[in-house]
Amino acid sequence: MRIAAQSIEEVREAAQIAEVASEFTALRRVGARFNGLCPYPDHNEKTPSFSVSPDKSFYYCFGCSRGGDAIKLVMELKSFSFSEAVSHLAERFGVELRFEGRSPEQERAAEQRNARRRSAYKALAAATAYYHKYLLKSPAAEEARRYLKERGFEYSTIEEFRLGYAPPRGRQGFVEAARGVGLGREALEAAGLLSSRGGERFGDRVMFPISDRRGRIVGFGARSLGEAKPKYLNSPETELFNKRSLLYGFPQVAEAMRREKAALVVEGYTDVLMLYQSGIKNAVATLGTAMTEQHLKTLSGHAEKIYLLFDPDEAGEKAVERVMVTAAELRLDLRVLRLPQDPADWLLEHPPEEFTDLLSGAVPVLEYGIRRIVGRARGAGAASRARAVPEVKALLGRIEDPVLNREAFRLAAEALGVDPETLRDESRSTNSMERTTPRSRARNVPGDPLAEAGRELLALVLTRPDLASGALRAGMEAPDLLNAPVVLGPDDFGDDVQGRIFALLSEHAGEDLSTVLSDERARALLDEISALQAEGERLYPSEASLRAAWFRLASLSRERAKLFTEDFDEKHRLHLETKRLNRAAVKVSNLTLES
Ligand code: UTP
Ligand code: MN
Repeated sequence: MRIAAQSIEEVREAAQIAEVASEFTALRRVGARFNGLCPYPDHNEKTPSFSVSPDKSFYYCFGCSRGGDAIKLVMELKSFSFSEAVSHLAERFGVELRFEGRSPEQERAAEQRNARRRSAYKALAAATAYYHKYLLKSPAAEEARRYLKERGFEYSTIEEFRLGYAPPRGRQGFVEAARGVGLGREALEAAGLLSSRGGERFGDRVMFPISDRRGRIVGFGARSLGEAKPKYLNSPETELFNKRSLLYGFPQVAEAMRREKAALVVEGYTDVLMLYQSGIKNAVATLGTAMTEQHLKTLSGHAEKIYLLFDPDEAGEKAVERVMVTAAELRLDLRVLRLPQDPADWLLEHPPEEFTDLLSGAVPVLEYGIRRIVGRARGAGAASRARAVPEVKALLGRIEDPVLNREAFRLAAEALGVDPETLRDESRSTNSMERTTPRSRARNVPGDPLAEAGRELLALVLTRPDLASGALRAGMEAPDLLNAPVVLGPDDFGDDVQGRIFALLSEHAGEDLSTVLSDERARALLDEISALQAEGERLYPSEASLRAAWFRLASLSRERAKLFTEDFDEKHRLHLETKRLNRAAVKVSNLTLES
């Protein structure tokens, strides 16, 4: 049973490499790339040499020379087979796989599952439209409209977030309407739209549609208009709706989050909306659960600084302690702020500018957490303060980043009223970590000009396959300098791997890199391909630099051939050709310099 090639391509396109990699290591945005510590378990390093390019969907570690795409990363770090990795990513990024050579039953089961998901998405989209229209148009929604208005929600916000209203019980609801558009019970069930008794789940409530990261509606939060309990009724956990990973408002605010490199995490749907319409467009909300590691990981692919705003209650405090270490591991600048009031209510009484002032009072999570642990012990005297020491130290031991670790020690010592060195010495003896040296692979000894030229050429071709497609098919032309196009083949390269990569690229000339990489033969070459990719970004790919590299390689390979041939005429011919190609290479690079 094989996954269809086209499905593999779809997975590669859908898989967000930065997000996938963030599962294994903390990434920090640096220009167009993300950098972090290498996640390969046998490569322990203290300074980050692992680099991810979201545009190219590639990662590469400059330390251990391993690289590839999201599929390879998952294969290697989760010890998955190729098809396991593809299925895992397909599941995660919502790609439907097609298979070749599956048994008819398997085919049917998979098709059924896909069909069920599809119709669940369809049901959720239809329900959203239904509730939204009902809110805007129905006379029975008068009270809901008044409620939203009184709470200060503008029409544009209601539209943009597709708020709705579920008709009161006794009226025709969505379940009935669904029948009219061909949505059966199974679809409604999979969409989580039915109550446990099989009736309408939501009635007489304001509907907040909740989307996944790709913007597809996967569930609802539904607020009662009055005091009816529960205040919010949410969708049940379904195949599509997972509260621990979803964030309300994500697709609407992702863009602003990336632009500002910062995100706010609040507790309520209404807080996201009020912040949004006050011009603070980078807030998301958890769905009635505390912030999880998954939430942080999702956010870390988009923002560097995260403000966690929460109510002053015990549950919120506990959550802070839980995510504190994850944040340190992800090297996120996570700050926490306890608010006197929900942001939504606060904004009704204060101008938005003041909210920004509030934010500047947020405390780095490490400081907050340590102060809290120590604070618990404080009032109770020296004995219980001593009891806080191991708790704090356990925490410190988990913070690997040296800078953060030093800072944490300082904070903890200050809060505990002890000398930082005492704290440090004690903990060093209890947790000495053994680190193995990074594995290093000998590769491409510098100084071999043919290998160097091959590397440069391949790096350029991989970075700009569009510029190279003509030359790969029919040779590189230089009308003013050479009378025939210069054709290169795998044997022109000094290195077998380079030759194989070149063969692959030639065969797929003019196709997307993604298609090239779906070729089975590419799998074994991914370390090298991604190394070349990473290198290509440091070159200046242009038509001229590509031509120069092409001619340089051709010249060097002719020169090598000259050494090996015993035929004098051939030797001479190669000699002349080498000189011509050299001249052409120099000419085209000079043209680049002059222009
Ligand atoms: P809040 O009680 O603070 O509600 O719960 P809110 O969002 O501020 O709503 P308003 O402003 O009173 O209308 C915060 C979040 O906790 C979840 C919801 O996700 C809500 O947005 N929650 C709360 C529930 O899931 N169920 C509940 O019964 C209450
Ligand atoms: Mn609230």
